[in-house]
Amino acid sequence: MARRPQIPNHQMNARTARLASLLSQAEICLPIYLERTQGLSHEPKGIRRSEMFFFYASVADLKPARILESGRARAQSTLVLARLFPQASIVSLESDASSPDVAIATERLRGCPNVECRFGDSLLLLPELVAAGDVVLIDGPKDFRALKLAFRLLRDGKPAAVFVHDLWLGSPARGFVDRSVPSAVLSDDPEWVQRYASLDSSRRVAPAAPNDLHRAYGATMGCFRGGDENYARRLLQCSAAQLIDRARETVRRIRHRPAIVRPKDFESVPPDEL
Ligand SMILES: C[S@@+](CC[C@H](N)C(=O)[O-])C[C@H]1O[C@@H](n2cnc3c(N)ncnc32)[C@H](O)[C@@H]1O
Repeated sequence: MARRPQIPNHQMNARTARLASLLSQAEICLPIYLERTQGLSHEPKGIRRSEMFFFYASVADLKPARILESGRARAQSTLVLARLFPQASIVSLESDASSPDVAIATERLRGCPNVECRFGDSLLLLPELVAAGDVVLIDGPKDFRALKLAFRLLRDGKPAAVFVHDLWLGSPARGFVDRSVPSAVLSDDPEWVQRYASLDSSRRVAPAAPNDLHRAYGATMGCFRGGDENYARRLLQCSAAQLIDRARETVRRIRHRPAIVRPKDFESVPPDEL
């Protein structure tokens, strides 16, 4: 297995600084988050509470005028966004107009005047829609397709930040982020999990060993800030990584090897599998 390339110190510092600022912002944001999401039920496929709090604490101080969401399903994240950002306009995109989730989402979003629901493929719609200062949340498409969409949007310099959901530890797309996008901050960071996994369940979180960056937690949200990287370069690198991953996947199938599965919460992934 390939070893993880070392990220240079100055790039590591960029992530450390972003994380430190997020953690201090989170302390301020927690009471508002709890108040605004109080009593909300949770639907299957919905983004976890600790991950939506990660989103909120990352961008609350930006006071975004508009949030674009891709992948609505039963509108868990949409509803949470509508509650957390009552002054913002939330535009929610969904590609599957014939899903039974549509009626559930419509019913749940009744009474959310700041939400506009649209149908269509975000790969086409988001690049047309995005404007300066928007914050974007991508929860469908997934994996490399989601990352490429994020980098396309960020390359053009408009969004303040793009979040990508489902970057779980051990997945090929996550491996790319860890190797090649040093400024990205992730919601399975041990410090974040230690403080905020209690939003998801009452299960006690055993302290992570110092510098244990290999412990999985949930589907995992990644935050990519506008201007933090050369996103045109990241887009090219991501396309190359996707091609290599497709080739590996083909070999794996030919050899009847098992598919990579998402690790359980708090499971440690050996560094040589990352
Ligand atoms: C995991 S679900 C979203 C869950 C939702 N964010 C929540 O928290 O309840 C993913 C959704 O993304 C949609 N999707 C997948 N690819 C898409 C695309 N290219 N454009 C828009 N929506 C897409 C799927 O149809 C599915 O409903």
